[in-house]
Amino acid sequence: MKTVKVDLKKEVDSSYEITIGSSFAREVLQKLRDEGAYFMVDENVFELYQDYFDHNNMFRFRADEHNKTHESVVSVLGFLFKCGARRDANLAIVGGGITGDVGGFAAATYMRGISFVQMPTTLLSMVDSSVGGKTGINFRGAKNNVGAFSQPQHVYIDMHFLNTLTDEEFLNGVAEVIKYGAIFDKEFFDYLSANKDKVIARDLDTLAYVVKRCCEMKADVVKKDEKEKGDRALLNFGHTFAHAIETDSHHGVKHGYAVATGMYLETDFAVKQGEATEETLNAIADILRLYGFDLSYEIEDRDLFIQAMLADKKADKKGLTLALTPAIGSCKILKNIPPQSIEDYFNNI
Ligand SMILES: NC(=O)c1ccc[n+]([C@@H]2O[C@H](COP(=O)([O-])OP(=O)(O)OC[C@H]3O[C@@H](n4cnc5c(N)ncnc54)[C@H](O)[C@@H]3O)[C@@H](O)[C@H]2O)c1
Repeated sequence: MKTVKVDLKKEVDSSYEITIGSSFAREVLQKLRDEGAYFMVDENVFELYQDYFDHNNMFRFRADEHNKTHESVVSVLGFLFKCGARRDANLAIVGGGITGDVGGFAAATYMRGISFVQMPTTLLSMVDSSVGGKTGINFRGAKNNVGAFSQPQHVYIDMHFLNTLTDEEFLNGVAEVIKYGAIFDKEFFDYLSANKDKVIARDLDTLAYVVKRCCEMKADVVKKDEKEKGDRALLNFGHTFAHAIETDSHHGVKHGYAVATGMYLETDFAVKQGEATEETLNAIADILRLYGFDLSYEIEDRDLFIQAMLADKKADKKGLTLALTPAIGSCKILKNIPPQSIEDYFNNI
C-alpha cells in the first residue's frame, strides 16, 4: 500500500490521505458501511462489482457527460434528504470523474457541506479528478462552469478497478498522465515513452507507480494553490482547447482524448507565438501518437468553438489565459491572449 498526503493545513485547516493499493476496496466499503456512510455509485461499477455493495443507503448514478447537470445534483441531494442524512453524514463516492464531480458538488452543498470520500474507478479519476477538491457540473453548454472547491476526507485508489475498464476509457486517462510528465517531470515523460507496452498492458506495478507519481505531482500543486489563484492553473495545459472540443463535439469526444488534441494544439499555438520550440511540439506529438491518440479534430462550428474557448473560466476581459509547455518538464501561464490571435491561428491551420 502506498500513501500520498495532500497537506492543506496552512490554507484551510484540512489535509487528507490518498491510499493507493490493490484489492482493498471491499474492505474499505465495509468499514464505511459500518460507520453509517451513504453511497453514490456509478451504475456500471455497481453492475461489475455487485458483491462490494449492498442496496441500503445507496444512490446509483449513470455517468454520462450529459448527466453532469444540476438535475443530477438535485437527485443526489434528494437521496441524502430522503435518507435523513444530517450534517455529520459522510458520502462515499465510487466511480469515475463524472460521478466524483457531481457527488462531490452535492456533498459540498448539502447542509452547507458534508464530508465525502472518493473511491475513483477510472484511470482518469485516479490520477486527476478525485484529488484536489474541484467538484462541479456543466452549465448552459459550458464545461465545469458551476461548482465548488471542496476537499474529500480521504481518497482510496484500488488499482484493481482498472481491470474492467474498456481500452477506450483506459486511454482516456493516459492523456492526463502524459500531461503531468509534459508540464512537471521530463524523467517521468521519458519513463512513459519507454514503458508504453507495460502501461498499455495494464501491468499493475507499473500503473501503481504511474498513479502514485501523478498524485504526488497533483498534491504538490494543490498544497500550494488550493483555489487556483496561481500555479494550479498550470494543470490546465491542453484544457482550454479541450473544453472547446468537448463543447463543439457535443461531448462526442471524451475528456482525455480532447485533452490529448488540446495539448497538441496549444503547443502548436505556443510555437507560432514564439513561446515553445518545435522540438517540444514533436515530443508531445510523438508520445501521444505512440499511445495511439489521433490528434486531428475537425471543428464542427467554428463560432461555437471559439465562443467555448472564450467562455473558459480562465478567460477575463483582457483575453484568454493558456497554460503552456515551453519545453518538456516545464510550464508557464500565458495571459491576456487577444481572441483575435486565436481566430488568426485557426485561419492559418
Ligand atoms: N474535478 C477535477 O479536477 C477533474 C479533473 C479531470 C477531469 N474531470 C472530469 O472527469 C470527467 C471524466 O471522468 P472519467 O473519464 O472518469 O469518466 P466517467 O466518470 O464517465 O467514467 C467513464 C466510463 O467508465 C465507466 N466506469 C467507471 N469505472 C469503471 C470500471 N472500473 N470498470 C468499467 N467501467 C467503469 C463509467 O460507468 C463510464 O461509463 C469529465 O467530466 C471531466 O470534466 C474533473
